[in-house]
Amino acid sequence: MIDELRSIVGAAHVMTDPAVTAAYSIDWTGRFRGSTPAVVRPGSAEEVAAVVAVCARAGQPIVPQGGNTGLVGGSVPLHGEIVLSLQRLDRITDVDEASGQLTAGAGATIAAVRDTARRAGWDYGVDWAARDSATVGGSIATNAGGVRVLRHGDTRARLLGVEAVLADGSVVSHLAGLLKDNTGYHLPSLLCGSEGTLAVVTAARLALVPRNDERVVALVGLDDVDAAVRACGRLRRDLASLEAVELFLADGVDLVCAQLGLPPPPFAAAVYLLVECAGRTDPSAELAGAVDALGAGAVAVAVEPARRAALWRYREAHTEAINAIGPPHKLDVTVPAHAMARFVADVRIAVSAVAPSARVWIFGHAADGNLHVNVTGVEPGDEAVDGAVLELVAASGGSISAEHGIGVAKRKWLHLNRSPAELAAMRAIKRALDPAGILNPNVLLP
Ligand code: MLT
Ligand code: ZN
Repeated sequence: MIDELRSIVGAAHVMTDPAVTAAYSIDWTGRFRGSTPAVVRPGSAEEVAAVVAVCARAGQPIVPQGGNTGLVGGSVPLHGEIVLSLQRLDRITDVDEASGQLTAGAGATIAAVRDTARRAGWDYGVDWAARDSATVGGSIATNAGGVRVLRHGDTRARLLGVEAVLADGSVVSHLAGLLKDNTGYHLPSLLCGSEGTLAVVTAARLALVPRNDERVVALVGLDDVDAAVRACGRLRRDLASLEAVELFLADGVDLVCAQLGLPPPPFAAAVYLLVECAGRTDPSAELAGAVDALGAGAVAVAVEPARRAALWRYREAHTEAINAIGPPHKLDVTVPAHAMARFVADVRIAVSAVAPSARVWIFGHAADGNLHVNVTGVEPGDEAVDGAVLELVAASGGSISAEHGIGVAKRKWLHLNRSPAELAAMRAIKRALDPAGILNPNVLLP
């Protein structure tokens, strides 16, 4: 089989040396580590199709992988799968300035899509800290969200069409990008969030958003999470130009500053909201008015790009700073706005009940109710904290996966959010599209 794969993609693009494949076999956090017989790097959709056909004949499971920035173990070979790296499919084509759309290969990074869109006078609305490595294919696999969902929606909201290879090696392609196109099942929606279990996405037609160059960022200090949630609601109500409202806490900022050697933020607070507004005209006055009306104690405002980036760093560096103290258990969840403050208090109690020496770090996307609960000081394989947090999420009326996906990390708790009938429907779809079970068979479905 390896020889056949070499004849399809070229010997240089089938890597079997464990010293080389090791980097493709461990996730970004270091919590999930496996091994693979080969990493295969096709250079076209036709090559992907031929590789999948060979694997199908051999009954060889595949894990599709993009930038390998996933955080739930969904893109690494934990059961001897072949890694199908889509990184070479990084072309961005057909930028249509009239419709505000482009076609991106699965291996194009989110930053490359954004930069291409900006050069054409548009922008890409899905954005998060791993933008320089994370790829379009991975963003579709997980239905990635990020920091601008409140204004532009998640990946599914931007996805107009896909080209994908099915489990038998056939290719489906629907990339015209027609906004109105009611011709049956919407495969882009089905594949988005399917974590590589139904098909291998090789390209996508993406809808862009207007490029708003006038930006202003405010860092707002608040006394507690309850005040932050109320402030977030008022900002959403009052600011048409609102693009992001991010939440983080004093202990997280201390960790970020200590690990990255950053100066402390302009003021100390128990809870921080990082607020960004963007428009065609300067949104500073609008933001200042809305922030004043909150009556918050401390506020810092940044307009120049370097100062805005310096404030964003306190938020975006949380991932890196937490990872620096050991592989975390990352529990990416959504809770309803009314339950957020209570959840933040209760989740610490729930974790310490099962892991008294663990530490809990909380940050996230306040406007979406999307909290990132990170737990450090727990062995990678000890799932007691995962269960405790996810059960509390479900009891709070939330979702156990907001934007990272289910992967292997949360598979056993999917029943907390999905009924037996829903799980049966998902399994029926999986069986129909991948009867031999070769496409990322060890993720998502319990
Ligand atoms: C973020 O919001 O920074 C990302 O989802 C990554 C993370 O949760 O660590
Ligand atoms: Zn996030």
